[in-house]
Amino acid sequence: MEYIANSNRYTDMMYRRCGNSGIKLSALSLGLWHNFGDVDVVENYRNILHLAFDSGITHFDLANNYGPPPGSAETNFGRIFHEDFKAYRDEIIISTKAGYTMWDGPYGDWGSKKYLVSSLDQSLKRMKLDYVDIFYHHRPDPETPLEESMAALDLIVRQGKALYVGLSNYRAPEAAKAFEMLKQMGTPCLIHQPKYSMFERWVEGGLLDAVEQYGVGCIPFSPLAQGLLTNKYLNGIPADSRAAVGHFLKADMITPERINQIKALNDIAAERNQSLAQMALAWLLKDNRVTSVLIGVSKPSQLSDSIQCLKNIEFSIDELNAIELIIK
Ligand SMILES: NC(=O)c1ccc[n+]([C@@H]2O[C@H](COP(=O)([O-])OP(=O)(O)OC[C@H]3O[C@@H](n4cnc5c(N)ncnc54)[C@H](OP(=O)(O)O)[C@@H]3O)[C@@H](O)[C@H]2O)c1
Repeated sequence: MEYIANSNRYTDMMYRRCGNSGIKLSALSLGLWHNFGDVDVVENYRNILHLAFDSGITHFDLANNYGPPPGSAETNFGRIFHEDFKAYRDEIIISTKAGYTMWDGPYGDWGSKKYLVSSLDQSLKRMKLDYVDIFYHHRPDPETPLEESMAALDLIVRQGKALYVGLSNYRAPEAAKAFEMLKQMGTPCLIHQPKYSMFERWVEGGLLDAVEQYGVGCIPFSPLAQGLLTNKYLNGIPADSRAAVGHFLKADMITPERINQIKALNDIAAERNQSLAQMALAWLLKDNRVTSVLIGVSKPSQLSDSIQCLKNIEFSIDELNAIELIIK
């Protein structure tokens, strides 16, 4: 059946300006790292994409290596995009990245111009797109000169293959250098994508200041610490959970201390009439330097739950202090 988007999709979503740019992003964005590979169920991920767009989510985040197998999330997204979303291209922000191992040999990884340009060409072919909205360098490369990686991003924009560029996993000092370089090149960095959640707070040690100083947006990934910051592990490890698969979220990360923290946070969330997932997302969005939070979901019901976080992104000082005591 032909997909027709919900005509009220923009009513309840919040849109936040991305740094000093002309772009606003939905306060929640959907990441396709897990659950969109060839190993996953097509109807499930198609439903997730429909629900996301119908709920006002305009931003879909990919990378060359998402799957498994690597590349398959882009191929699968591209197919559904062409089947269902083509008419909405101008309402959608699609991002992809390169920076991790993608193909054999010395040119399939890290940050050379050769790798970044070729990788985006491959991504565009897999998704059957003329351009992406945002192209990221996925991680800093300690061996390639920063100038070369940034010149590759600048080139890609000048070639019309991406409208904007972003950086991911760059720490504050190197991010600031890269922001400065891109600014000088005339291709200002649109957005930085760091890992940031109640359980992972390195960005508070300088990166958030740097993005603010340079007028760059910020989109935290793994805002639920891959599912830890939800109620799903309170009574053990469910068979259908990411921790049960154990590649990226390992069962031994779910220690008794972690469970105690999660229980205490869950109690605070309940007092706020929120699920823990909703509170964890709201906790990131309370900071206006955070443009959007980049969530993953394995089923539509998780998206329906998480999106309700927008009903309350305010915290009292007492709530913040109580949370701080638990997570510090
Ligand atoms: N730039 C980078 O280096 C980088 C790295 C990692 C991720 N990312 C991006 O960030 C996106 C999100 O990362 P992530 O998937 O780790 O994010 P996350 O939101 O922290 O975790 C997602 C997982 O949490 C669980 N979950 C989500 N909502 C839930 C809810 N309401 N109730 C209960 N459980 C819920 C699901 O786990 P189950 O699967 O167990 O059901 C889901 O797969 C990725 O798709 C990718 O686009 C970027």
